[in-house]
Amino acid sequence: MPDKPDLTRRRISQGITAAALLPLLGANLIGCSDSSDRSRERGVPAEFLHGVASGDPLQDRVILWTRLTPQQDGTVFVDWEIASDPAFSDVLNRGSGTTSVEVDYTVKVDADGLAPGMRYYYRFTSGDKVSPTGLARTAPASGVAAASFAVVSCSNYPAGYFHAYREIANRDYDAVLHLGDYIYEYAADGYASEDAQALSRVSEPPGELLDLADYRTRYAQYRMDPDLQACHAAHPFIVVWDDHEVANNTWKDGAENHDPDTEGDFFTRRAAAIQAWYEWLPVRPPEAELAITYRRFEWGGLLDLLMLDTRVIGRDKQLEYADFTNGGLIDVGAVRAAAASSGRSMLGEEQRRWLKQALTDSTARWQVLGQQVLMARLVMPEPLVRPLSGVGEGGLDEATAALLTSLAAKAKPVQERSAAEQALLDSVIPLNLDAWDGYEFEREDLLTHASQLQSRLVVLAGDSHNSWASQLTLADGTPVGVEFAGTSVTSPGAEGELGLENAVLFAPLASQLVDDLAYANLADRGFLEVQFDAGKVSATWHYVSDIKSAEYELMSQKRKEIVVGREELLLS
Ligand SMILES: [Fe+2]
Repeated sequence: MPDKPDLTRRRISQGITAAALLPLLGANLIGCSDSSDRSRERGVPAEFLHGVASGDPLQDRVILWTRLTPQQDGTVFVDWEIASDPAFSDVLNRGSGTTSVEVDYTVKVDADGLAPGMRYYYRFTSGDKVSPTGLARTAPASGVAAASFAVVSCSNYPAGYFHAYREIANRDYDAVLHLGDYIYEYAADGYASEDAQALSRVSEPPGELLDLADYRTRYAQYRMDPDLQACHAAHPFIVVWDDHEVANNTWKDGAENHDPDTEGDFFTRRAAAIQAWYEWLPVRPPEAELAITYRRFEWGGLLDLLMLDTRVIGRDKQLEYADFTNGGLIDVGAVRAAAASSGRSMLGEEQRRWLKQALTDSTARWQVLGQQVLMARLVMPEPLVRPLSGVGEGGLDEATAALLTSLAAKAKPVQERSAAEQALLDSVIPLNLDAWDGYEFEREDLLTHASQLQSRLVVLAGDSHNSWASQLTLADGTPVGVEFAGTSVTSPGAEGELGLENAVLFAPLASQLVDDLAYANLADRGFLEVQFDAGKVSATWHYVSDIKSAEYELMSQKRKEIVVGREELLLS
């Protein structure tokens, strides 16, 4: 247990300052109000049905969140308090405010005046209703010896039960890092909804999310999930969005799953998605533009956590293999040249500058990037990528044959390979053009910068629904850092496309075939745990046995741990 916070009582009732009240979407941020002005009896009666949450922990403050469900529309009064003990005998800060339909009856507090590296208990009251008690933590002060995080992504409600959230709720972490796809925007009969009826997890609203009411309704449904509620109540979250918080394969000016002709203006939709995201997630609204979510968390000199947006603010449109297919084959040279173009960005100029400066400024032992898509090189021969991408000629049988042929060729000494075998191995192209592999120039620029700084770079990624551990390397093969990625909470991984047997078979073969890849799991759902101390970082993937059944267990035989020492940062 942490020490008792060293904090004077004078903070009580001081609440947050007016400066913390943010315009526009920060309107659900409340602080203290003049108690003489409070006429609670006039407020609309409301209940706490969506639990509590905390997030974005700093050394002296943390965001607290809840949502009221009113009996009828009107102003709802709410009080909050944070204490060092679960009985609330030692209250350290409290305040009051109101919420309304304007912010979907969500409530957000930036509870300040706290001490670093401490555990706190918080709750809300409205009329005679009291919320569940949540646990929050603050970021540690310098000298902290260790840190541990649960890392999650891709929690698709209709696809299955949120067992991973339940497991995380029952464990001890400094924070949960959610790397995006917290919700999915599809209609109730859309992606991964085959079992939704049987699981009583049919998406609400029934249509694809397009306007503010749609996005709010979807968040409200997710936040009724008891496992997700437990996870939020147990840990502060540090959240970034991926594409599905807006629409599939979002980029800065559009999305694959947005048709302006039938679905209206993309930016209107995006603004609605962003508003609902800020309303429903325990994120500290920025003072500037709300779309800017990249931000830094200093973890006591042990690590600097840099949360990125590779999706919304600066991403150029994804390349697509359909545009590089000639005569049934992918034009390897053309796609490589396009992916390496210096004009292509995923971060945008401003964020890239900010990130490089943050790396330059970092004196922490570890530099950790929390972001969406795979950064490591995941390239495979064209005859394998082509059928897996669904373009040109070939199906799963051809992909399997290409994989086996490639592995056989690779197993031979170079001088014993035939010209055709060598040509096959030389035909490598990205497996996924939506990931950093499709934005090679910017990746090389970033990794070169980190290499020159001798950063201890640990990249965390979600998005792919599968698990990966990779060496991050420069184009010339120089190791720069490591990447730990995945898996998903519920969204289907490669087993959805390959079939379960193939997915299990392919995973170890993929790590044989891909130089920088040390570990892959293409079949199991769960979460990633990452722990740091001064000398090492360890990543552990935990997998649940079944997301389609309320009964499940953690599969200890599939648990995978990788430990990397600080000096070499090399994956074996
Ligand atoms: Fe996803």
